[in-house]
Amino acid sequence: MTSTWVGTSWKMTKTLAEARAFARGLAAAEPALPAEVQPFVIPPATALAAVRAELPASSRVLVGAQDAHWEDAGPWTGEVSVPQVADAGARLVEIGHSERREAFGETDERIRLKVHATLRHSLVPLVCVGEPAAVRAAGGQAAYVAAQTRAAFDGVAAGTRVLVAYEPVWAIGEGGRPATPDDVEAPVAAIRAATADLDAHVLYGGSVDGENAPALLDVPGVGGLFVGRAAWDLAGFLTILRVAARG
Ligand code: PGA
Repeated sequence: MTSTWVGTSWKMTKTLAEARAFARGLAAAEPALPAEVQPFVIPPATALAAVRAELPASSRVLVGAQDAHWEDAGPWTGEVSVPQVADAGARLVEIGHSERREAFGETDERIRLKVHATLRHSLVPLVCVGEPAAVRAAGGQAAYVAAQTRAAFDGVAAGTRVLVAYEPVWAIGEGGRPATPDDVEAPVAAIRAATADLDAHVLYGGSVDGENAPALLDVPGVGGLFVGRAAWDLAGFLTILRVAARG
């Protein structure tokens, strides 16, 4: 995986009409997008199939799910499985975002199970790791994310293609402080060491915007960006895709 990956998760935002409009605009802009950038979009489950349907069959834009259960089917009210999101057009599955770890009790063990379920169905897992502010304050960030990464990919075969997003918890969302390149370098090196036997591509996420994107992409080992708020409108996403190509 040599290209620069740039994607956005819409989290719990967008109606179907809004999601379709974004996807239509992205499809229209795609011919002018830089070939060296791999774009991806992660809509809420309600809009996954609609977003995929708005993109041409030949589109390079990959669509992902924000989460998926570790079992293929069954009595799990409220959940969706990897085969279901694949059926809706997903090629990626985001797993272990800090909002899910914090608010929904997502444990390392569940994340590992979801990684295996994703790979069983030939989708690519995008595992999010990142330390809370207290761990950063104590200087434990590299060891913390290395442990999260090793736990997520435990038992995964050597050479498997995976994505990992380094997303320090203190950098994400409203009130988040964007990480500096210095903040990012050692944890990314630790993630790369923890995935040395995999075909892993490491992204940075947390308060990314068009301004800070170039410096973050310059950090050794960073192969892309995972963007929330700044890419929720199409113009913002296109800006970051173009900035990534120049880096
Ligand atoms: P943000 O979200 O860009 O809005 O900080 C990033 C993320 O949660 O992946």
